[in-house]
Amino acid sequence: MESSVMKRERPSSEQELSNTPVKRKAASAAMSEARSGEIPKETIGDISHPDPVMVCRGVNVFYADKQAIFDVDLDIGRNQVISMIGPSGCGKSTFLRCLNRMNDTIDIARVTGSISLDGTDIYDRKLDVVPLRARVGMVFQKPNPFPKSIYENVAYGPRIHGLARDKVELDEIVHSSLERAGLLKEVKDRLEQPGTGLSGGQQQRLCIARAIAVSPEVILMDEPCSALDPIATARIEDLIDELKENYTICIVTHSMQQAARVSQRTAYFHLGYLVEVDETDKIFTNPSHKLTEDYITGRFG
Ligand SMILES: Nc1ncnc2c1ncn2[C@@H]1O[C@H](COP(=O)(O)OP(=O)(O)OP(=O)(O)O)[C@@H](O)[C@H]1O
Ligand SMILES: [Mg+2]
Repeated sequence: MESSVMKRERPSSEQELSNTPVKRKAASAAMSEARSGEIPKETIGDISHPDPVMVCRGVNVFYADKQAIFDVDLDIGRNQVISMIGPSGCGKSTFLRCLNRMNDTIDIARVTGSISLDGTDIYDRKLDVVPLRARVGMVFQKPNPFPKSIYENVAYGPRIHGLARDKVELDEIVHSSLERAGLLKEVKDRLEQPGTGLSGGQQQRLCIARAIAVSPEVILMDEPCSALDPIATARIEDLIDELKENYTICIVTHSMQQAARVSQRTAYFHLGYLVEVDETDKIFTNPSHKLTEDYITGRFG
């Protein structure tokens, strides 16, 4: 990973994105610009957290020569939910994928800057991404259970990571993961049936159980409820609330209500820039930047 990161001028939403390196203005100057609707030179709000599980500094992402994320600094606080919001194409999924190196799977994607998990550089060349993706698990927009039984869906990860010494321990992990994902009651008598035979909401909870089964520290969720009905969505939101006792959750959502309900912190992205990050209440009741305000009041996006 390249360590030197150029600071770049942040363009207004109308201007073409520029790659010309310039000196950043002081944060106070950026604050005074906040009402102008221009992308600020510095993220507004506190990008740091007193107890970060992940620390991102100067993160840029390029797809071939097109830059999708610009110089993002952000701490991900331990055992809390942070939501990432912003208009379509602003880079939410791209940034989320940086957190467990899922962008490695995209040939033309290149990430610069630094991201650490509990102090370890996750882009270290020597780092094995398989255990990293167990520590930083991911739940996708569309539930994607393996074409295997419910039991095998959850047992797969613990088995390949050698987390169970015998069948008794594996059974215990499968049961407790399904329990924590709020699914055990519904499936305990049909564990040998295919995971793909469950309803959409149940499949998504199965995918959450699968992520939990390998004892992650962080769970990344990219619009996990967008394919679900309101009842299944409410189940997942309740679950997210319970899971934060033990895990850190980063959720991308297009639903302001969902971000307001489930998260303690909210990050607003615009054209690849992290414009503002703050306590969720603050973002939704008194945003500092005009772009954030326009987005949360439905003026665009
Ligand atoms: N695999 C890819 N190859 C090339 N460009 C990509 C790729 N994935 C994303 N991009 C580009 O990167 C930018 C950010 O995309 P990203 O998918 O991260 O946005 P998003 O905020 O998640 O949008 P949405 O809300 O629609 O999911 C967009 O300009 C997009 O076209
Ligand atoms: Mg996306």
